[in-house]
Amino acid sequence: MTPVVSGFSKLSKADKIKWLAKHHFNDDQNAVDTLVTYWNSDDGLQQLHDEFTENTISNYYLPFSVAPNFLINNKRYTLPMAIEESSVVAAASKAAKFWQTRGGFKAEVLSTIKVGQVHFTYNGKPEKLQQFFSIIKPKLLASVSHMTKNMEKRGGGVIDIELRDKTSEIDDYYQLHCTFETVDAMGANFINSCLEQFAKTMTTEAKEHHDFSATEKDIEIVMSILSNYVPQCLVKASVSCNIKDLPSSPSLSPLQYANKFVRAVRIAEVEPYRAVTHNKGIMNGIDAVVLATGNDFRAIEAGAHAYASRDGKYTSLTHAEIQNEMLTFSIKLPLALGTVGGLTSLHPLVKFALQLLEKPNAKKLMEITAVAGLAQNFAAINSLITTGIQQGHMKMHLMNILNQFKATENEKKQLIKYFETNAVTHSEVVTQIEKLRA
Ligand code: MEV
Repeated sequence: MTPVVSGFSKLSKADKIKWLAKHHFNDDQNAVDTLVTYWNSDDGLQQLHDEFTENTISNYYLPFSVAPNFLINNKRYTLPMAIEESSVVAAASKAAKFWQTRGGFKAEVLSTIKVGQVHFTYNGKPEKLQQFFSIIKPKLLASVSHMTKNMEKRGGGVIDIELRDKTSEIDDYYQLHCTFETVDAMGANFINSCLEQFAKTMTTEAKEHHDFSATEKDIEIVMSILSNYVPQCLVKASVSCNIKDLPSSPSLSPLQYANKFVRAVRIAEVEPYRAVTHNKGIMNGIDAVVLATGNDFRAIEAGAHAYASRDGKYTSLTHAEIQNEMLTFSIKLPLALGTVGGLTSLHPLVKFALQLLEKPNAKKLMEITAVAGLAQNFAAINSLITTGIQQGHMKMHLMNILNQFKATENEKKQLIKYFETNAVTHSEVVTQIEKLRA
C-alpha cells in the first residue's frame, strides 16, 4: 500500500514527481517523461500555471477550438471553445452557419442578480430577531462599505439583505438572504467577503443588543457563502425562421421536420430521462465557451441544472414552438459569468478568447454563451431526428481512432475516403488499418 505522506505540498515539483514515480509507478521513467512532455518551455508561463493550484506537476491540455459564423443580435462572432468531445465544435459551427442565413440568433439578458446567504441559528423569539434585524440592517450595510465602494462605482454592490425564518424546516435556523449586483465580475470573492462581514457584524451586534436574553444574544453562524443557484441572473436566446426554410430530405418535408423538432423538444420537457441528456448537449456548448473564457463551469452547471428543476420536475432548458408558419426555438437559463477578475487577466488563452469576442462585458458574454447552448441543442436535435447522432459523431471519432493507431498522413487520407461511404465503427476502422498495413 502507498505510504501516507505528510508535507507533500511543501516538496519541490521535482521531489513530488520523484515521490509519485517511486510509490505509484515503480520508478518508471516513462511516467515521469509523460509529465515533463507537457511542461511549457517558457518558464514564466509554466510558473503561472503551477501557481493556479496546489501540487501542480504538469499541464492537462484540452483542445482550444473556434466556431465561426455566429450571427448574434446582428453582429458576427467567432466563438472560442475549450472541449475534448469530438463532434461539439463541428456541430456548433454547422448550427451557426445554418442560422446566419435565417436572421441569426437573438439574445437578451433578463436579469443579473446574484445571491449569497449567511446561515445561522438563533434560539429565541422570532419577533425579537426581526426587530433586531431592522435595527442592525443599516449597520450591516455600513460594515461592508469599504468593500463595496469600488463595486458601487461600477454600478454594482449589495442590493438588499432579507431576514428569512427557516425554523419550519430546521429548529432555530434563520438566514440573511442577500442579493448583489456584481456587474462584469462573477463576484464570488466580493459576495463571500461581504457575507463574512455581515456575519461578524451581526454576531457582535447581537452580543450588545439590550433586548436579547443571554441565549438570544448567542447567535451562531453556521456558514456564509454565495449561492450558485441564480434564477434571477437569467439570459434568453432564440432563433426563428419560416418553416419552408428548414432542412428537408426526400423522407422529411420542412413541415414534417418542424413538427418532429418540436416533438423532440417537447419530449425533453416532459421526460426527465431525456431532459438530462438534452440539457447535457446544451452544456456541451455552454461549458466549452465558459471554460475558454476562464469562467467556472461547475458553478454554471450546478446553476443550470437547478434551474431546470425549478418547478419540482427536471425539464428541458430549451423550448420550441410553431406559430404562423414560423418555428421558434429558444433557451432560457441562469449564467453567472464574469469578464473581469479570476483567470480573465491571468491566463493567456482566456485573454485571447475574450479578445476574440471583442472584450465583451458580462452581459454580452451571457448572451453569447446562451447562444452556444442553443446552437448545440439545435445541432443535436437536428441529427437525432434525421440521420441519428452516430453518423457525425463517428466521423469525428474516426480521427481519434486513427491517431490512437498512429496512422500516417497517407493512411489517414485513404481511410477518411473509405469512411465517406462506409459506416464508422471501432472494429471496422481497425480492420481497415490492418488491411492497409498488411
Ligand atoms: C452528446 O454529448 C450530447 C447529445 O447526447 C445531446 C442530445 O442527445 O441532445 C447528442
